[in-house]
Amino acid sequence: MNILAIETSCDETAAAIVADGRRVVAETIASQMEIHAQFGGVVPEVASRRHVESVTAVVSATFAKAGLTWSNIDAIAVTCGPGLLGALLVGVSAAKGYALATGLPLIGVHHIAGHVAASFVETDLAPPLLALVVSGGHTELLAVEPPLTFRKLGGTKDDAAGEAYDKVARLLGLPYPGGPRVDALAAEGDPTAYAFPRSLLEEDSFDFSYSGLKSAVHNELAKRRQRGEEIVAADVCASFQAAVVEVLVDKTARAVRHTGLSTVVVAGGVAANRGLRQALQRRAKEDGFHVHFPPIQLCTDNAAMIGAAAYFYAAAGRAHDLSLNAYATLPL
Ligand code: KG4
Ligand code: ZN
Repeated sequence: MNILAIETSCDETAAAIVADGRRVVAETIASQMEIHAQFGGVVPEVASRRHVESVTAVVSATFAKAGLTWSNIDAIAVTCGPGLLGALLVGVSAAKGYALATGLPLIGVHHIAGHVAASFVETDLAPPLLALVVSGGHTELLAVEPPLTFRKLGGTKDDAAGEAYDKVARLLGLPYPGGPRVDALAAEGDPTAYAFPRSLLEEDSFDFSYSGLKSAVHNELAKRRQRGEEIVAADVCASFQAAVVEVLVDKTARAVRHTGLSTVVVAGGVAANRGLRQALQRRAKEDGFHVHFPPIQLCTDNAAMIGAAAYFYAAAGRAHDLSLNAYATLPL
C-alpha cells in the first residue's frame, strides 16, 4: 500500500510516499528555517504563506523522485493537528483537493502519532509499546496500543522539553533553533558545573516540569552577570542537559516497570539529542528494555512519519471524509 503524505503543521512543507508504513519511497522537505531565523522563531502568517507557495510543488517533486503517478497511490494522509492553524489548513486543504480529484481515501493524522510512527520506518516495531515524545510542543510518556492509539501516562505541566532547550539557548544568546546548539555545546562542557534542579523526580508521577529548571538557569546567569563573573556557556549547557536527561531517563525507566511494556520508542525533535540518546541507551541495557531512536532526519518534522502512521489506520479500515478539518489543538 502506497500512501502519499503531507505535513505542514509548522515551518516545513513536506511530502512523502511511504510503502506499507515502513519504506520511504520518496520524500521532499522544503524548510522555512532560514526565513524564520531572522525573527528568532516561527512567524505563523509567514509560515502559512510559504506553505501555500510550496505545497503542490513539494508533492509533484515527490512523485517525480519516486517515478510514480497518482495511479500508484492507495491513500492520502495529512497532518490535521495540532500545530499552527493557518499552516495546518494549507496541508489539509491540499490533501482534500487531491482526495476529491482522485477519489482516494483521506486519512487525517495527529502530528504526535506521526512522530511516534517515525520509529516504524525501516523497522519491524509495532504497538503495543511505550513512547517518550519530546518535541518543541510536547513532552509526554504514552502507552501506544494497536492499531495506533494512545494512553497518556504523563506529560509536561508547563513548557515542553524542546521549548526549555530553546529558552535556555536564548538566555545564553545562542541563535534559533537553540536545541541543537545547546546539545553541541553540552558535549564540550562539565555537567556537574552547576547543580540545576531535577523537577518532579521524587514524586511517583509521570509528569514533567521545566519552569523551575528554566528559572534556575535564568537566575544563575543573572547572578553571574551582575557580579561580572565569567559564564562558560558549555558548562551551563552541559549542566542543563544533565538535569533534563536524568529526569527523562528516570521516568521512562519507571514507565517501563509500571506498564510492563519492554520496547520504548523516542519521538520528536529532542530525540535527536545526543545526551538523551546515550543516557537512555545505557539505562535500557542496565534495566533490560529495548529503546529505539529514529534516524535524526526522521526526528524533526517530516511527512514520511505521517505516511507511516496513516498506514496503521488504513490497515484497520479507518479513514476520514472530506469534512476533515485542521485543529490547532487536538487530543491524541
Ligand atoms: O518535533 P520538532 O521538530 O517540532 C515540534 O515541536 O513538533 O521539535 C523541535 C524542537 C525544538 O525545540 C528544537 O530546539 C528541539 O526540538 N531540538 C533539540 C535537538 N534538535 C532539535 N533539542 C535538543 N537537542 C537536540 N539535538
Ligand atoms: Zn513535530
